[in-house]
Amino acid sequence: MAPTTLTSLAEEKTLQSEFVRDEDERPKVAYNQFSNEIPVISLAGIDDAGAKRSEICKRIVEACEDWGIFQVVEHGVDTNLISDMTRLAREFFDLPAEEKLRFDMSGGKKGGFIVSSHLQGEAVQDWREIVTYFSYPIRARDYSRWPDKPENWRAVTEEYSEKLMNLACKLLDVLSEAMGLEKDALTKACVDMDQKVVVNFYPKCPQPDMTLGLKRHTDPGTITLLLQDQVGGLQATKDGGKTWITVQPVEGAFVVNLGDHGHYLSNGRFKNADHQAVVNSNYSRLSIATFQNPAPQAIVYPLKIREGDKPVLEEPITFAEMYKRKMSKDIELAKLKKLAK
Ligand code: SIN
Ligand code: FE2
Repeated sequence: MAPTTLTSLAEEKTLQSEFVRDEDERPKVAYNQFSNEIPVISLAGIDDAGAKRSEICKRIVEACEDWGIFQVVEHGVDTNLISDMTRLAREFFDLPAEEKLRFDMSGGKKGGFIVSSHLQGEAVQDWREIVTYFSYPIRARDYSRWPDKPENWRAVTEEYSEKLMNLACKLLDVLSEAMGLEKDALTKACVDMDQKVVVNFYPKCPQPDMTLGLKRHTDPGTITLLLQDQVGGLQATKDGGKTWITVQPVEGAFVVNLGDHGHYLSNGRFKNADHQAVVNSNYSRLSIATFQNPAPQAIVYPLKIREGDKPVLEEPITFAEMYKRKMSKDIELAKLKKLAK
């Protein structure tokens, strides 16, 4: 029998029960009911000193304070590189299941392919397949966990990783300066910045109103750069988390969002954006998330506490500990929910 992937489940008429979410978690807004409220910021001129740079920085800082999520265009990452990366990623997910499962990540392997229903500790499963690899620090790259098909993907990925690392550092420089710190304060606080790339493939779904491609969360790390296709499905919240909006896809843009680490280092000044991905029955969707995370041993504590403010953390902790606490809290909540049923 052929191994099961979501791509094969997508052909079914009804959703399997493991993907059915409680009413309160189900999508409130459709995948294509777009909102253009999230700021779209052009970075053209960010490298030049002067009024243009100041204006761009001001917009980035405001977006981080108001939303914790925004889009950047004219960011300097080559459009051919972006289209190669997306085309090759799609080709990977089109491979037969057996081929993808050569990089099976289940059993705790670091990187590779997994149907997200096989991720551990979740009460309800997300409707997505992923392939993930650790790209920085370079010495930690384990190429045996990077898919070797389609041809060229590894080389393209390496270049993509490098360009996105540069872009992320540039954005962190802006935020450091806005906090009144040295330009490299935020990158330095990451010690030896990790980068993890997660390529998400959301197959068409037979009952998209009852499930999610990726459940509501904030990213744990410092900053995330997300490339999405034109289908739509990324949703963010406004009004203190009460209202969902679907982010309008912008060709060639990166969606930037601040994670928990960025939020804590700024003592809550910059928001850690709450978001989720919804799916649909018309189109499959691809997104590529590049997570810039601190090293596990990096100490998490506000770098700047403005006068009159209280620290958002009780004490300094390592990023590894912060991550562990977040994950165990999530699993506890999921268990409680299951028990309450
Ligand atoms: C993510 O949050 O990592 C991905 C969201 C998306 O696919 O839009
Ligand atoms: Fe995310």
